[in-house]
Amino acid sequence: MELRIPPTRSLRGRLRVPGDKSVTHRGLMLGSLAQGESTLYHPLKAGDTLSTARAMRQLGAEITEVGEHFRIRGIGLRLQEPSDVLDCGNAGTLMRLLAGLLAGQEFFAVLSGDDSLRRRPMGRVTAPLRQMGARIEGRENGRLAPLAVRGGGLRGIHYELPVASAQVKSAVLLAGLFAEEDTEVVEPAPTRDHTERLFRHYGLPLEVEGRLVRTRRADPFAAKDLTVPGDFSSAAFFLVAALITPDSEVVLEGVGLNPTRTGLLTVLREMGADLAWEVTEGEEGEPVGSIRARSSMLKGVSVDPDLIPLMVDEVPVLAAAAAWAEGETYIPNLSELRVKESDRLTAIAKNLEHLGVGVEAGPDWLRIRGGGVRSEGVVEPFHDHRIAMAFAVCGLPKGVVVREAQWASISFPSFWEDLSRLRGEAPRDGC
Ligand code: S3P
Repeated sequence: MELRIPPTRSLRGRLRVPGDKSVTHRGLMLGSLAQGESTLYHPLKAGDTLSTARAMRQLGAEITEVGEHFRIRGIGLRLQEPSDVLDCGNAGTLMRLLAGLLAGQEFFAVLSGDDSLRRRPMGRVTAPLRQMGARIEGRENGRLAPLAVRGGGLRGIHYELPVASAQVKSAVLLAGLFAEEDTEVVEPAPTRDHTERLFRHYGLPLEVEGRLVRTRRADPFAAKDLTVPGDFSSAAFFLVAALITPDSEVVLEGVGLNPTRTGLLTVLREMGADLAWEVTEGEEGEPVGSIRARSSMLKGVSVDPDLIPLMVDEVPVLAAAAAWAEGETYIPNLSELRVKESDRLTAIAKNLEHLGVGVEAGPDWLRIRGGGVRSEGVVEPFHDHRIAMAFAVCGLPKGVVVREAQWASISFPSFWEDLSRLRGEAPRDGC
């Protein structure tokens, strides 16, 4: 589906973004492993997380939609052998975390996904899970899906993560719930800590010492309701949209403000963004609050490489902001972007070029020459939801054509409708 958005003169309004994708995946999995019924409030219902709900049902959990929430009847730590392939769709988080869970289950299961997911590296999870004793096969000796897992008989390991990846950390920690002896994971740099926060929420074994996270075999645990915060990664699109569009003020409410996710706020502030945020609730689990963004004169910066793991999904929209800044922006430490839903480093460079913005791309860095988009351009999402939304944002002030706009529904089904509302238009049909 191709979408044409005329030049945007102003963006105004308040918005509640959909539930956090990372927390929804984890809430569905841990709710299914718990004993008894619980409600997952305000989950993300989008392509990726509906794949997780489907997979957990195949593994024996009962998951029903009650209004906008999910009601989950967990079946305890022993799941059921699925009778068919578990289709993870486009969701890397689902495939990697589920591989960890299945490593602890004494049955056979196969994980597959769409063309993009079957190209993404899985060796980063199959290697530690094999060290723990799981039998896992996959294409190219377990580097690529489909993966076939026969779990059980796990032992704990001490694992130094070779990449800063919350998915790998979480896969090993989930497997650790089924292992003899302690399981320890050491991160090279801090990454999102939703798994750790949820282990605490459910009373699961967890110790954190600096960059080391430790868990051990879990006892059966009781189901417990969970409220999912709004997704900071979704809010980021409208934040940047408001900053780069004249005469704009947008307030995003109920957004997760977990400091392991909000590196973008630090960078945008340094760029001179008129931004304010406040944590108002959720001190116990995930901090939640509101963010206000107003049109700003941005200036180019050199981004601190240590901030990248704290904003790994926001680099495309940071590139959109950099395109509108005065001067040059340098973004280093981007090697992980090569193995996301698309090769995001290339996808960012190509789309900036399509929009007439000067860009230089290195193996793991980008240099973006600001100054703005000069005229209406065409955005090519490369089958990647965040690329579609980030570059739609980049083109807003001059008008933009977005190819395959439907990709947004992987994480943000109401994106185009919400954008229309902030543009002051009547709601559009469909999309
Ligand atoms: C996620 C971790 C990140 C992120 C992804 C969600 C998670 O991936 O890019 O969208 O929920 O743990 P990596 O762990 O591969 O960096």
